[in-house]
Parts: sequence; structure tokens; C-alpha cells
Amino acid sequence: MDLSKVDEIIDRHEGERGSLIPILQDIQDVFGYLPKEALERVSRRLKIPMSRVFGVVTFYSQFYLQPRGRHTIKLCMGTACHVRGAPRVLQRIKEVLGIDEGETTPDLKFTLEIVRCLGTCFLAPVMMIDNNYYGKLTPQRVERILKEYG
Ligand code: FES
Repeated sequence: MDLSKVDEIIDRHEGERGSLIPILQDIQDVFGYLPKEALERVSRRLKIPMSRVFGVVTFYSQFYLQPRGRHTIKLCMGTACHVRGAPRVLQRIKEVLGIDEGETTPDLKFTLEIVRCLGTCFLAPVMMIDNNYYGKLTPQRVERILKEYG
């Protein structure tokens, strides 16, 4: 792993107070997630114990410790979506992609997340892929939609 980018980011924030979070954000912008080696470098150079760095990373849901897919699927399992068949849609997504919720496909194409309500219950069951909404899902339709992201 090329840690020179991490060093550049840390240098850029040198002398700033409360720079840990902006540094972590910049590192994630570069790598797409927070590699362990990068966190160790931050810990060493900022003289902040690794346990504290980890504490911050795991506290904020914007930070990721694993590589992310190029597309993020957010499938709603809120009440309205649940009663209208979201569990079957989820099952099909898992079968097609071969991953569980919270996981990323090995080809780094998709990351699958479960959310509680997307605020579009009238479209239930609904999911988002990146910024696009897909409503009135069925297992068949979701499979077709996933194929569109070739
Ligand atoms: S419960 Fe699914 S969008 Fe509201």
C-alpha cells in the first residue's frame, strides 16, 4: 500500500486542532475506505493511540473499514416495505450477488445495506442504488435492475 498519500494528507493538516476527523475523511476520499495500514500511520504520526482512532472510525457511520462497492444498494426493511414483500426481494438480491447485508461483492461492484425507511413508503417495497430510487419491487424486477448495472 502506498502510504505516501497518507503522509501528504497528514502534512496538509499539520498544526490544525481537531484534525483527526478531516484527515480520516481525506484518506477515505482517496482509498474509498480506511485501510488498517493507513490508520496505523495516522495513529503513529498524530501520536493518538490506535484504540482512539478506531473508536472514532467506528463511532461515525460515514467511515468504512472495508472496501466498498462502486454501487451502494440500500434496501428498505421498514414496516411498509416489510409487509409488502421486502424480505423476498432481499433474499433474491442475496442469491444473485452471493453476499449478505453489510457485505461487498468480491468484484467490488455492489455493497448491500439495509435501511429502516427511505421516506418513500408509497413506493414500497423500495430500494436505492446510489442516488436512484426503485419502487414496487418484486424478486424478478430486482434481478433485472441489478443486471442493468453491468
Ligand atoms: S418503510 Fe420503506 S420507504 Fe418507508
